[in-house]
Amino acid sequence: MENLRVLQPNKYNVYLGNNITYKLLERFTFDKVLVIADDNLAEIDINNILAAFPNSYLYKVKANEANKSLEEYTKIIDKLTSLSFGKCDYILGFGGGCILDLAGYVASTYKRGIKFISVPTSMLAMVDASVGGKVAINYNGIKNLIGTIYTPEMVIVDPYYLHSLPLRHLNNGLMEAYKMGLTLDAKIIDAIHEKNYLEVINLALLAKINIVNQDPYDNNLRHVLNFAHTIAHAIELEGSILHGEAVAACFKYFILDKDLKNTVIKDLANYIDIKELESFIKNNKNIILENIKNDKKVVNSNNYYINEIFLNKINDYTFKDIQISDYEVLLNE
Ligand SMILES: NC(=O)c1ccc[n+]([C@@H]2O[C@H](COP(=O)([O-])OP(=O)(O)OC[C@H]3O[C@@H](n4cnc5c(N)ncnc54)[C@H](O)[C@@H]3O)[C@@H](O)[C@H]2O)c1
Repeated sequence: MENLRVLQPNKYNVYLGNNITYKLLERFTFDKVLVIADDNLAEIDINNILAAFPNSYLYKVKANEANKSLEEYTKIIDKLTSLSFGKCDYILGFGGGCILDLAGYVASTYKRGIKFISVPTSMLAMVDASVGGKVAINYNGIKNLIGTIYTPEMVIVDPYYLHSLPLRHLNNGLMEAYKMGLTLDAKIIDAIHEKNYLEVINLALLAKINIVNQDPYDNNLRHVLNFAHTIAHAIELEGSILHGEAVAACFKYFILDKDLKNTVIKDLANYIDIKELESFIKNNKNIILENIKNDKKVVNSNNYYINEIFLNKINDYTFKDIQISDYEVLLNE
């Protein structure tokens, strides 16, 4: 497997390479494995994963926020119990961010934690959701309300699976990588322009792992990964806009250098409908501001302080505490 790269966040390996999954899984011995798979994946890809284990079971989930739920969680727990899964058995999450968050949360809590393998299949999950250890389900309409930080046994990132990913979701994930390009490593943006997805994922993972290793519990440095996210989360609550699309539409509010800002806005039009996103933001400004007040990062309920990241120029950022009234000024830009 000469194309295999091994990246090392705290305590586990992330294996990255095209068509590495089955060969890699053959190296390990497993007893029982429950594959929790995204039902949009190609049938053949799901069957091949199942065939890589001597004793595998399948649980398919339709990937959406509604299914990152307590109901789905309980159904999977029931399945594990009926199959007598023990602490030495495995759950393999096979899908985009929704599936990995759900499968990881099940793995982190069943019998106080069983072994978890993560195989991301969307671009967003490959560059972001698959590393960092955050796993969660939604509850009462609140995103990621119930969750833990859990270390997987391994993460296998195989860009082969992008073959079936719809273009809109490919670009959505690329926008998260673009964010890491702006804040942490400009070479990521070059790789996006070159459509060199293996390199995009490699560099984005290296950048994220470097930050997460220094601040695994999200106390300070890891906040840089939230670049442009506060307004983006407030936008996502209001419609069918995807996470990466919303984040990218908000880059401009936090880029201080005018030339860089203009270049980025022009470039983004190659990946997202930036005009439509901008008019959505303009038409929903008040509700977006209301949503920001409920952001979980708000540190003082009287003054609504949020520690924000501003980009002086590429790969040069500063943190600054800002208030809700400052977001109003930003949105009026
Ligand atoms: N844990 C973390 O650190 C972290 C980080 C970022 C995002 N997330 C979470 O990830 C979720 C978003 O992830 P996402 O964008 O991957 O969304 P998703 O899981 O909903 O996947 C997007 C769509 O792509 C489809 N899909 C995925 N891979 C495919 C493939 N190879 N072929 C065909 N279709 C495929 C899915 O079925 C779905 O329709 C959110 O719930 C978010 O909260 C978690």
